Formats: sequence, C-alpha cells, structure tokens
Amino acid sequence: MTEAKRATKADLKRIGNIIANYREQRWGLIPLLHEIQRVQGYIPPEAIPRIARGLGLFPSQVQGVISFYTQFYTTQRGRNIVRVCRGTACHVRGGKTILKLVKQHLGLEEDETTPDLEYTLETVACIGVCALAPNIVINRDTHGHMNPKKVARLFSKKDKA
Ligand code: FES
Repeated sequence: MTEAKRATKADLKRIGNIIANYREQRWGLIPLLHEIQRVQGYIPPEAIPRIARGLGLFPSQVQGVISFYTQFYTTQRGRNIVRVCRGTACHVRGGKTILKLVKQHLGLEEDETTPDLEYTLETVACIGVCALAPNIVINRDTHGHMNPKKVARLFSKKDKA
C-alpha cells in the first residue's frame, strides 16, 4: 500500500492559484474541487483549510462535501482502477474467491493503491451484468465469468514487474 502522499509546496501553490479564481465564491466549491482533482488527481487533505479560507467556509463544510460525493478522493489513486463486484450474483458464483485472488496478485487490500500508482483496488455493488458473474471491472472494461486462470492472466504483467 502507498503511504498517503503529502502535497508538496508546488502542489499547494498550484492549488492556491486555483482557489484564487473562486475567492469568496461559496457556490464555487464543487467546481473548485473538480478542478483541483483534475489537476492533482485527488484533493490533498492539507488543501482543505486553504479551500475553506478562500471561499469563506468552515473546513468541516468543505470536508462534508468531499465526503458526501463519492467522485472526490483525498488520497492518490492508481492509473488503473480495479473494481471487483460484491453483488449477490457475483458473490454466489465465487466473487469472494476472485476478490481474494485479485488482492494476492496486486498485493492490496480494498481501497489501497500500489506504490507505483499502477492499480487501485475497490469493490462495488452489482454492476448490472449478473449473467456474466463473477465480474471485475478494470477502468471501463468489464471482465465476466472470472475464474482463477483469468485473474492470473489479467494481472500477469503486474506479477512480472
Ligand atoms: S452481482 Fe455482480 S454484476 Fe450483478
């Protein structure tokens, strides 16, 4: 698992410039968070008090919005997001074993990211293709009828690295 990366001075300066465009514009919190995440890849927790000051909000208000919307992240994520389905159909068809194998291949627990920022592992509720259970989604691609061999094939490059 990656140690939580701390924002550098350069990161905070870049974020400060973005905040300056929204000064005292409370309505701008969500677009501002999107912009920071687009530029940084996540919203560094150290930036939260600065965002709050810039917009005239309390840090708890900023934190509340970040926590409410699942599209905001306060830790760095991998270039490839691996989601293992935990829905009922996938579960009864071996989803638990698939998750265990993916964890072993990536060396990750849920919501962790590899140190090289290549992969982040998450679980999701039903993704709507139960007929293909058990399923894994990597970025936008769904991989159905997963089994141990398929898991090994999907992540074999990672194992050799
Ligand atoms: S339960 Fe996994 S796709 Fe529906």
